[in-house]
Amino acid sequence: MPVRPPDYPAAKASARISPTSVSASSAASPDQPTPLLGNLTPSQFMRRYWQKKPFLIRHAIPDIVAPLARDELFELADQDDVESRLITHFRSKWQLEHGPFAADELPSIKQRAWTLLVQGVDLHNDRARALLDRFRFVPDARLDDLMISYATDGGGVGPHFDSYDVFLLQVHGKRRWRIGAQRDLSLQPGLPLKVLQHFEPEDEWVLEPGDMLYLPPHIAHDGVAQGECMTCSIGFRAPSTSELAAQFLYYLAERGEAHASPNGSALYRDPQQAAVERPAELPPALVDRVGAILAKVDWSDKDVSSFLGTYLSEPKPSVVFDPPERPLDEARFIRRAMKEGVRLDRKTVLLYDSRSYYLNGEESRLADVKNWVIELADNRSLSAKRFVTLSPQSSMTALLHEWYRAGWIQTGELR
Ligand code: SIN
Ligand code: CO
Repeated sequence: MPVRPPDYPAAKASARISPTSVSASSAASPDQPTPLLGNLTPSQFMRRYWQKKPFLIRHAIPDIVAPLARDELFELADQDDVESRLITHFRSKWQLEHGPFAADELPSIKQRAWTLLVQGVDLHNDRARALLDRFRFVPDARLDDLMISYATDGGGVGPHFDSYDVFLLQVHGKRRWRIGAQRDLSLQPGLPLKVLQHFEPEDEWVLEPGDMLYLPPHIAHDGVAQGECMTCSIGFRAPSTSELAAQFLYYLAERGEAHASPNGSALYRDPQQAAVERPAELPPALVDRVGAILAKVDWSDKDVSSFLGTYLSEPKPSVVFDPPERPLDEARFIRRAMKEGVRLDRKTVLLYDSRSYYLNGEESRLADVKNWVIELADNRSLSAKRFVTLSPQSSMTALLHEWYRAGWIQTGELR
């Protein structure tokens, strides 16, 4: 394992994000100015910058400490259920390898020009999850993950562009960012990663710990470490229209399956089919008939929200929940929750609309549970006091106990 330099102790780094950091429900309310956004309110930021133009914020989180120490990040990169990449730029050659990486498979920290990218750190670490939660002034449906990159001096991923919005928060050491709004987004051919062929930077800044750069999609950028550094990328998902269309059609097909009548009337039938001389020819009547069936496919707004709720709350393929080894029975769970409250597991996604709530990919009716599910979804926790008030509803306590046994929630308020 690499030796930690004296100015970067793991215990200090892992103990807190920063004195100013707060818990997961801590996103500033829309009309409250926040240093995180350069003293703009989230509403002003969304109006002026979101999806529109880059924004540099000095001292966004002034006393930031990396949510993970370097060695903790390296340990995460060694796990099978964590997506990690190693990008090296040795002797001017770009190379990319996918993890997991045992500590001795990473280059020495004394070697220049390499970077380790670890995706979805919020799924594995409460401090990273709490940091991600500060960006919940953007809907959860858009929030994707928190990636941490570690780089040695000169390390980076090359000039490139992304198709999603990103906040690049410097959490340790310095990184020089150069950005440009160029039209030419052609890539160097034959490389294992996307590096721009012609990078034309227009602005340049050195970011220090606590500084942050917001970039909308398709802004060319290049971040190069000045000495050892760590950067958190808070990324937003933006499924392509073709992906959404394909997934929605799949959803409709599954729904159709569920509604198909048991006598098989949904099957294609061709009682008028004549014997053929050219067996390989696609029968025109088949094309007509299928065209007529497809023309009858329709959907409502409800189908669209059900699809989006289940699709967007579906855990990522690598996610595995950790149910408690020795779960409390319902009575004990209730007693504990009355003292400590409950919180969503950091991997849980809970969304809602006017009719339904969507918990980790499953849709359920909101009507009977509206008074507490909305609060739990928005705050990601219910305080002990709220739990006591709500606990006479046995349907609530029974459901929450079921979720606790599945590892979707835990007792205790947000840390
Ligand atoms: C990095 O953190 O090194 C790269 C992040 C990015 O450019 O999107
Ligand atoms: Co990028």
